[in-house]
Amino acid sequence: MLSSILSAACTALVIVSQSSAFVPSPSNYVTIKSSLSLSKDVESTTTTRRGFMDNAASATAVVAGASSVWMEPSPAMAYGLNKANDKLASYGLPPLANVPNGYSALAEIYGKGANRSPLLVAFGFPLDWVVTLPSQDVNGEDGTIQVGEYAKGDTATFFVVPNAGKVESILEKDKAFFTSALIAAISQKSNNVYQDFKITKMEPVTVDNGNYMLVDFKYTLLTGAGFEVERKGVSSVTSAGGGVQLLWCASIAARYKNKTEGQLRTIAQSFRCYADGLNFSADLRSAAPDFV
Ligand SMILES: *[C@@H]1O[C@H](CO)[C@@H](O)[C@H](O)[C@H]1NC(C)=O
Ligand SMILES: *[C@@H]1O[C@H](CO)[C@@H](O)[C@H](O)[C@H]1NC(C)=O
Repeated sequence: MLSSILSAACTALVIVSQSSAFVPSPSNYVTIKSSLSLSKDVESTTTTRRGFMDNAASATAVVAGASSVWMEPSPAMAYGLNKANDKLASYGLPPLANVPNGYSALAEIYGKGANRSPLLVAFGFPLDWVVTLPSQDVNGEDGTIQVGEYAKGDTATFFVVPNAGKVESILEKDKAFFTSALIAAISQKSNNVYQDFKITKMEPVTVDNGNYMLVDFKYTLLTGAGFEVERKGVSSVTSAGGGVQLLWCASIAARYKNKTEGQLRTIAQSFRCYADGLNFSADLRSAAPDFV
């Protein structure tokens, strides 16, 4: 067991060094230690002392580093609209619509680990954004599907709302429901404190046999370093399978106004999440890592 972890760590060393071109500002030390110990302690100790963007970047680096042990590195070139649509088609699902030129796309299984329920998650994102995927280890699956231009603080993050059962009519839920779902999402994996969270718009959409509430929101982040950062975003909230899921896309408020609003809206509008009636067995079998 120990030797297999060590050899996995050596593999991680090689992969990490190859992949450093697309992993945002990783500390290799953090990445490798996390791969070795398969624990979250590094992530939580760095969180207390750093600002949000650092935190997002380091958390992402940890996720990316851990997943490198078991998976192919995932530069943007590994993705693309055709590839995502092929995956959707293999499940009998419609292709992503309205993904503009200059965008890539992904269709990935979240929940390959036995600790989670599988979901097929798909969305488009700007071509130069970096993708991270959940990592698999002996305890199951950890982390999530996230894309971002991390150095600028622009991110789109998939989130499964904890302890939420299936919601038959998500479009009839009130603002309090979406507020609590989004606050859970933005405060995940962070010791930073937010304040003034506010939903500014809700728009119900029914598309591709699913219901999605598009929710505009804003909040102020109080970073561990004592800064206040205003952030704005757009999310898409749905209920697939036995739970509630969302993709939340956000950036610093000034960038949102100048540049990113259109991007974040495009990403959120393209988001699809599927579970009901899908047979995931082929994807789950190929994902199972050999730990012994
Ligand atoms: C937004 O645009 C204005 C005017 O072009 C510019 O002065 C400002 O620095 C920009 N802010 C950001 C965060 O890009
Ligand atoms: C799911 O697909 C596998 C093949 O990948 C097949 O063996 C299995 O019977 C299918 N399960 C159902 C419930 O259709």
